[in-house]
Amino acid sequence: AIERTFSILKPDATERNLTGAINAVIEKAGLRIVAQKRIRMTQEQAETFYAVHKERPFFGELVSFMISAPVVVQVLEGDNAIAKYREVMGATDPAKAADGTIRKLYAKSVGENSVHGSDAAETAAQEIAQFFSGNEIVG
Ligand code: CMP
Repeated sequence: AIERTFSILKPDATERNLTGAINAVIEKAGLRIVAQKRIRMTQEQAETFYAVHKERPFFGELVSFMISAPVVVQVLEGDNAIAKYREVMGATDPAKAADGTIRKLYAKSVGENSVHGSDAAETAAQEIAQFFSGNEIVG
């Protein structure tokens, strides 16, 4: 089925000027970028976005990384988009990511791992709604 998923090109990607290279991998995989904007996340936005991780030891580090430089937030659309994008991203830890995946190609570490993608339909809807209004998504 045609799905939408939420994507972030993280600060390590914007800082190294890799947004176009990553978008090329996304588009080559058959996913369509139907919304996109470059923003600087506020601390509050980052804390809300990662609220599920707030008890983790890396939470503070994660939030400060996400606000350290601009990010590009996106909505990706396509057949089976949620699972497909997770496959295209590769494992969270780039050392474990498969060849050709975004994280294998570009991620620096498990924390500075270049991209985020929603893990399920419900989180995709929530994450999209946190950053985009309906009229900003043009399929
Ligand atoms: P993401 O898919 O954005 O969701 C949670 C993020 O937490 C994850 O990608 C990583 O960037 C980050 N993360 C996960 N594990 C660690 C860790 N051990 N140390 C630092 N950051 C982590």
